[in-house]
Amino acid sequence: MKTITTIDALRRELDGERATGRRVGFVPTMGYLHEGHASLMAASVADNDVTVASIFVNPLQFGAGEDLEAYPRDLPRDAALAADAGVDVLFTPTVEEMYPHGRVLTTVTVAEVSARMEGASRPTHFAGVATVVAKLFAIVGASRAYFGEKDFQQLAVVRRMAADLSFPVEVVGCPIVREPDGLAMSSRNVYLSPEEREAATVLHRALLAGVEAVAENVRSGDAVSAVMGSLIRAEPLATLDYAEVVDPVTLEPVAQIHDEARLLVAARVGAPRLLDNMAVTC
Ligand code: PAJ
Repeated sequence: MKTITTIDALRRELDGERATGRRVGFVPTMGYLHEGHASLMAASVADNDVTVASIFVNPLQFGAGEDLEAYPRDLPRDAALAADAGVDVLFTPTVEEMYPHGRVLTTVTVAEVSARMEGASRPTHFAGVATVVAKLFAIVGASRAYFGEKDFQQLAVVRRMAADLSFPVEVVGCPIVREPDGLAMSSRNVYLSPEEREAATVLHRALLAGVEAVAENVRSGDAVSAVMGSLIRAEPLATLDYAEVVDPVTLEPVAQIHDEARLLVAARVGAPRLLDNMAVTC
């Protein structure tokens, strides 16, 4: 695996690959990698000739008072995990390399899909994500890019951004990788105390209860939200942010569930804000 830190060197490397007809797959990350990230890398390795992964803790997507400085980092460990997963090129630019002019004047915002849920709690977050992903797409020139369903709203935002701006890249969504007790893997789980780690399974349990309610013929979005919300509220170490039933593409709330919907929950457990989601079909 090659580690490359500049945009020019990465373009030179990948131009060489593309010139011989090789297809590039891309996995953007913020590092502190776990099996969830490794699953995206494995999907890219299986589908493409060359896999590029990036590690960049993007300041633009952190709001004031969020955990930018404290975001966990461990490049040597990440490099070993990426190499094991079959990544060919690891792109690890500095903030100066990505944002050489300091203040960014050009940003990408995706209306509507970004507005609710994560967007309501973190108003500048998705513009930061869409802007860095647009830059990375322009830098890497991949045929396919891999994102986890773990961040379901982010996946919807990126899909819409790529479609609206005609990026020649297929955005591939990959299933959530979970711990044995159901907790969705996340770089932020390291912040959980043992008691909080135990309590954090309430997000997954709430989603299962939501799926169960739909299986028992509950069709009202509000009723399913209430089932999930009351479970999370009953956990003393958790503070509910939202429990929603939405359309999987528009992310608009669903009044009556038919065909497919997505259940999304977010809660603070101790310091970290945790997210999880699950599909329902009927
Ligand atoms: P990060 O949180 O590092 O996540 C990188 C990718 O890994 C995202 O697509 C995320 O959905 C996926 N992922 C995280 N946990 C997962 C899990 N348990 N199962 C499956 N996939 C999982 O998301 C970001 O970074 C950033 O916002 C980024 C897209 C890189 C832009 O800065």
